[in-house]
Amino acid sequence: MLEASMKLHTDIERILIDAETIQRRIDELATQVDADYADVDELLLVGILKGAFIFMADLTRRLHVPHVVDFMALSTYGPGVEASGAVRIVMDLRQSIAGRHVLIVEDIVDTGLTLDYLYHTLESRRMASLRSCALLSKADQRKVEVHINYLGFEIPDVWVVGYGLDYADRHRTLPYIGVLRAEVYR
Ligand code: PRP
Repeated sequence: MLEASMKLHTDIERILIDAETIQRRIDELATQVDADYADVDELLLVGILKGAFIFMADLTRRLHVPHVVDFMALSTYGPGVEASGAVRIVMDLRQSIAGRHVLIVEDIVDTGLTLDYLYHTLESRRMASLRSCALLSKADQRKVEVHINYLGFEIPDVWVVGYGLDYADRHRTLPYIGVLRAEVYR
């Protein structure tokens, strides 16, 4: 395995999901998406920045269904220093999504607030359909129940980084999902 020959970054306690397992799961997710959208003319994948950029890149290159990509950036923080739980759009889509089949692509669903906000916000844009695909979910952290149509892995409530996920904007490019050492964020 690739990671076996690599020295773990000193901030990482252990690997939760290795690169090979992630890639195998994405193959399966892409197969499901292809099957479900087989009769659709075109699918619009909407990646939620920044975390989803690597998952999005791997997923989109495995899909056979005709599709295009776009991105949104959201923030779960209010204008103050404290986390308010409020979600706001930092960067919106560049195109109208009326009448289109939209698949939201997320790296992780944690409290569910971001995905719930997206469902409600996009609802008024009169899409043909709206579904979600997330690589990771932390069900223990949910503040609001949200449905995830395509889910890679359910994970425990630990601080994970890698494969798009960060700590203070670092570690996004690790090829695996790793558990951050508690000393790093304490
Ligand atoms: C993360 C992740 C999701 C959101 C999920 O983004 O990418 O968008 O949090 O959390 P929730 O379910 O509690 O709403 P983050 O705000 O860390 O920004 P980033 O993707 O730019 O790192």
